[in-house]
Amino acid sequence: MSVDVYSEKASCERLLSVHRWTDKLLTFRTTRPAGYTFTAGQFARLGLEIDGEIVSRAYSITSAVADDELEYYAIIVPGGKFTTRLDALRPGDTVWVEKLSYGFMTADRFTDGKQLWMLATGTGLGPYLSILQQRDVWEQFEQLVVVHGVRHREELAYADQLEGLRAQAVAQGLPARLHYLRTVTRDPAAADGLLAGRITALLRDGALEQATGLAIGVEQSRFMACGNPEMVTEVREILRERGMTPLRRTGGGQFVTEDYW
Ligand SMILES: Cc1cc2nc3c(=O)[nH]c(=O)nc-3n(C[C@H](O)[C@H](O)[C@H](O)COP(=O)(O)OP(=O)(O)OC[C@H]3O[C@@H](n4cnc5c(N)ncnc54)[C@H](O)[C@@H]3O)c2cc1C
Ligand SMILES: NC(=O)c1ccc[n+]([C@@H]2O[C@H](COP(=O)([O-])OP(=O)(O)OC[C@H]3O[C@@H](n4cnc5c(N)ncnc54)[C@H](OP(=O)(O)O)[C@@H]3O)[C@@H](O)[C@H]2O)c1
Repeated sequence: MSVDVYSEKASCERLLSVHRWTDKLLTFRTTRPAGYTFTAGQFARLGLEIDGEIVSRAYSITSAVADDELEYYAIIVPGGKFTTRLDALRPGDTVWVEKLSYGFMTADRFTDGKQLWMLATGTGLGPYLSILQQRDVWEQFEQLVVVHGVRHREELAYADQLEGLRAQAVAQGLPARLHYLRTVTRDPAAADGLLAGRITALLRDGALEQATGLAIGVEQSRFMACGNPEMVTEVREILRERGMTPLRRTGGGQFVTEDYW
């Protein structure tokens, strides 16, 4: 799309900072368009000008809804059109942010349930970082569970932030307890509290329930799954086998999911 056409629906913002977790994983921040609103768990569409045209991609917003800036957690895909350019950006460079926010994977859509399970592979962790910065979710549920699955342990980004959110919630006397589970699939089995194996295998064989001490069931459990589309599909199948159905606008349902590609 040409810059002229795109500029009607997007706002010209600035890259503020880049934090590199590994050579392929980074957190970046942009200025926030004037009047931009979103619900925790939603994504923005970002545009970069490449060869005179705008290339746009979806990015989950990791920052809190009240933050002055917008933050995102990204992987650089080998040969990827958008991310190759993203990798080369420097603070001060232009990033277009579409004026609307998108997505339905928000915790406020659940009207019941005691446990919120948030399953992520790779950068699919992003939406949960924003959700967990909202006080409401700590009051809405009794148990919050984040399960982050990655290939290698150095890809377990945001561990300190998640531990910090848990400690802050305890200090503030918020009702919910956060269980934060991490699993690696391509490193040797862990001796330091990490799980080993795919999220789907751990869900199927009861390892997630064992690690948290929580029983999964239709009455009490609500699920979000985000990231690798094959993981998301398999999670949906496992949950259906357990009697759960997708969240419906008209009410009912236990899970909501988001595919990243
Ligand atoms: C709703 C939604 C939200 C998204 N949020 C994020 C986000 O917060 N962070 C993020 O990094 N990406 C996110 N993505 C993916 C992102 O929009 C782009 O696909 C990604 O930037 C690659 O673009 P590209 O042009 O560089 O690569 P492309 O040429 O588009 O290459 C696509 C290929 O890269 C791989 N790929 C794409 N995204 C990922 C990923 N996140 N992790 C692992 N492999 C991937 C897949 O194999 C895919 O087929 C999201 C996608 C959707 C649909
Ligand atoms: N060139 C290629 O052929 C190729 C292929 C894949 C990815 N890539 C690139 O390499 C990067 C990988 O990114 P990433 O590691 O964040 O993403 P990822 O490949 O989705 O892996 C993240 C985690 O998800 C797990 N996973 C994958 N498929 C799953 C499934 N069906 N069910 C449950 N868990 C599943 C992985 O386990 P496992 O370790 O068991 O897979 C890993 O622990 C991307 O840039 C991608 O484009 C390249």
